[in-house]
Amino acid sequence: MKALIVREHGPIANLLLEDAADPVPGPGQVLIAVHAVSINFPDLLVIGGTYQTLPTLPFSPGKDLAGVVAAVGAGVTTCKPGDRVAAQNEYGAYAQRCVVPQMNCYTMPERMSFTDAAAMGLTFPTAHFALVERGQYQPGEIVLINGAAGGVGVATVQIAKALGATVVAAVDSAGKADLAKTNGADHIVRTDVPNLRDAFRDQVFKAVGKRGVDIIVDPVGGDVFDAGLRVIAWCGRIIIVGFAEGRIPEVKAGHLLVKNIAMLGLQYSSYRDRVPEKVQQVQRELFAWYEAGRIKPHVMAEFALQDYQQALAIVRDGKAVGKVVIRMR
Ligand SMILES: NC(=O)c1ccc[n+]([C@@H]2O[C@H](COP(=O)([O-])OP(=O)(O)OC[C@H]3O[C@@H](n4cnc5c(N)ncnc54)[C@H](OP(=O)(O)O)[C@@H]3O)[C@@H](O)[C@H]2O)c1
Repeated sequence: MKALIVREHGPIANLLLEDAADPVPGPGQVLIAVHAVSINFPDLLVIGGTYQTLPTLPFSPGKDLAGVVAAVGAGVTTCKPGDRVAAQNEYGAYAQRCVVPQMNCYTMPERMSFTDAAAMGLTFPTAHFALVERGQYQPGEIVLINGAAGGVGVATVQIAKALGATVVAAVDSAGKADLAKTNGADHIVRTDVPNLRDAFRDQVFKAVGKRGVDIIVDPVGGDVFDAGLRVIAWCGRIIIVGFAEGRIPEVKAGHLLVKNIAMLGLQYSSYRDRVPEKVQQVQRELFAWYEAGRIKPHVMAEFALQDYQQALAIVRDGKAVGKVVIRMR
């Protein structure tokens, strides 16, 4: 098979298209003939060697895939050869064949494309766990989503709308604002403005009133996160998802005390590892919403396998709007 391999951590140029041996499924594992993979921001951190968990070199990165079950190991009961599945792994998806634990394979709806299944992958359950499990979203609440046109951002806008929230989407360009609106955002806050601290608060208060927002989902960090602290409502919840901007913010504890604010971290993959049955249940709900037309991943671009460098460069350069997908065969 062909696989994208990292032999030495570094820039995306270090990711090489090579021939590799087909993996063999062990007990409880599923071998998938991979049709589509989607790129996640953390893939670049893994390639660069700066992610919190790193596989031993050499390895194939990639966390999201969709394809057809080619073989199953002993004891697999959840799927069989020929089934179309979406699947998630800590790494290894950037290959034409990939072995995944059976609990991380999710049978796809009949009419779903491999591209959509891969694109929904990590981001939609991350958004669901952020809002429902960590944020304890209540019907009718106001949700502010930073980086609302990115992978996690688009998914969070759609899921918040599917849950009935009023959505405020923070983005840094007119094009991203259009996408956020198309995905259902009720209000837009622009972050490409002078004096972000005050301008952010003014825009949010103008949109939803001075009470502010009940939940902030933040995959961005940095200055946008800091600005958001000023618009959180009494008893609001801030869900920390990531730091795409590069700076990990710091918060004064007194700020949380004064308005009864809860700040909650989310590491979605640890739910997948520790309570996979809960993730299976969320995945079934997401597929049902997809079939009902309530959510649909936004695929910005699809690339053939040999053009993978172009695909990764879009995400590296912060130009990803929704998801970028690579077709593996
Ligand atoms: N905790 C978890 O379980 C979990 C799961 C998945 C992803 N994540 C993390 O969530 C973050 C976002 O992931 P993603 O897949 O949504 O990424 P993405 O598609 O690249 O979107 C990131 C967004 O962040 C904003 N941003 C601000 N400064 C940026 C910069 N210097 N470079 C890139 N983006 C920048 C951009 O929106 P604006 O410019 O419009 O603000 C962009 O749309 C990453 O840090 C990722 O590691 C965490």
